[in-house]
Amino acid sequence: MEQKKLEELDSSEQNLIEKAIEVRKHAYAPYSGYSVGSALLDCDGKVFSGCNVEGADYTLTTHAEMDAINSMVKSGSRKIKSIAVVVKSDVGYGMPCGLCRQKIREFALNDEVKVIGVNLDNNEKIREIFISKLSDLLPFSFGPDFL
Ligand code: THU
Ligand code: ZN
Repeated sequence: MEQKKLEELDSSEQNLIEKAIEVRKHAYAPYSGYSVGSALLDCDGKVFSGCNVEGADYTLTTHAEMDAINSMVKSGSRKIKSIAVVVKSDVGYGMPCGLCRQKIREFALNDEVKVIGVNLDNNEKIREIFISKLSDLLPFSFGPDFL
């Protein structure tokens, strides 16, 4: 995993971050108080976004990345090229949880899929950006090609 500055990313990656910041504003996270936004680029150049949606039962939660991926699948598209996740936290990397890593793996174009984690500061400005290949986040992974 590498730490990067916004200017070091290409325009499609910067665009994903922008879209993830926008959709994060719609996150429904009254129980955790932890809003997450995600945006992905598919292999046709289309962008899909999603946010976390929690429930009063405390278990009925959709993660932002899963929401973005489901939007892609609903549109008829199946292959992720890159995906950004935006959170606001004093610690951590803004990287997807284990469940989301597996779901990204399900629809990943290949091992080189880029995962971009963004941490915002209290003024909603970008504090840090981390970037990693999916295969580094989920080594020796299980996936559809094994069945
Ligand atoms: N969350 C995500 O949306 N994506 C992740 O990969 C990590 C966790 C959400 C779920 C819950 O609404 C909140 O963040 C706190 O766990
Ligand atoms: Zn997750």
